[in-house]
Amino acid sequence: MADRHAVRGVILAGGLGKRLAPLTRVTNKHLLPIYNRPMIFYPIETLVKAGIRDILIVTGGTSSGDFLRLMGNGRDFGLEHITYAYQEGEGGIAAALSIAENFARGEKLVVILGDNIVEDTIAPYVEDFRRQPRGAKILLKEVDDPGRFGVVTFEGDRIVEIQEKPRVPASRFAVTGIYMYDGEVFDIVRDLKPSGRGELEITDVNTAYLRMGCLTFDILKGFWSDAGTFDSLLRANTLIAERVHGQPARVEP
Ligand code: DAU
Repeated sequence: MADRHAVRGVILAGGLGKRLAPLTRVTNKHLLPIYNRPMIFYPIETLVKAGIRDILIVTGGTSSGDFLRLMGNGRDFGLEHITYAYQEGEGGIAAALSIAENFARGEKLVVILGDNIVEDTIAPYVEDFRRQPRGAKILLKEVDDPGRFGVVTFEGDRIVEIQEKPRVPASRFAVTGIYMYDGEVFDIVRDLKPSGRGELEITDVNTAYLRMGCLTFDILKGFWSDAGTFDSLLRANTLIAERVHGQPARVEP
């Protein structure tokens, strides 16, 4: 069996958060509040609860120093090691991931987008992936507005295609921003070409694994939200407030 400690975590918190301007004009999107805590705390917690103790945070923009001030050496979160890296500009999620190559040292990685808020523990999926001989695993969630996301096409219970933000979604299953990759991912990223929007797309990475026949998936049951638009940011805030209070959030008259 693979070394239990070999899986390392990467949080991608670069990009310029343009869809949240002007909230992101003077700070990084992942430092904005989700109810009572900064957004970045949630993906850290998701990784820690899955037993991951060694993480890399890729940041960008003008406020990257604030991440260090906020998280320090990571001990408050139960981390053994925290490493920070800087992404120039906004080359896409796969471009941000490529910065993690030295950190990964050829080992398996759990990658989470810094704006993804997940209720479920991902521990069982990470455990399955530790045992998966090679390839990648993605986590899906059934949503009402799949066209905002990467969307899978199923044939029976097999994924046959993944489309990024399709105008006509083939299913209601969105690809969440939680990805697990083996060491081959960096060779795949090196072969990518920028998409129409000029980014290296994570959907193209997942499609490469799909074509190699080594992409597995699981479906999240609890709530999942990204927080990259005003509405999804509000939704994530409301969901977390409800969990904190144990009941639907109320605005007092
Ligand atoms: O949240 C899940 C979705 O995330 C997936 O379903 C899509 O397939 C995937 O492309 C992505 O879509 P978004 O449009 O939500 O990606 P966005 O550009 O908002 O970036 C999400 C996070 O990725 C962001 O919070 C930080 C990180 N990122 C993004 C870019 C473009 C970086 O670290 N660097 C970047 O250059």
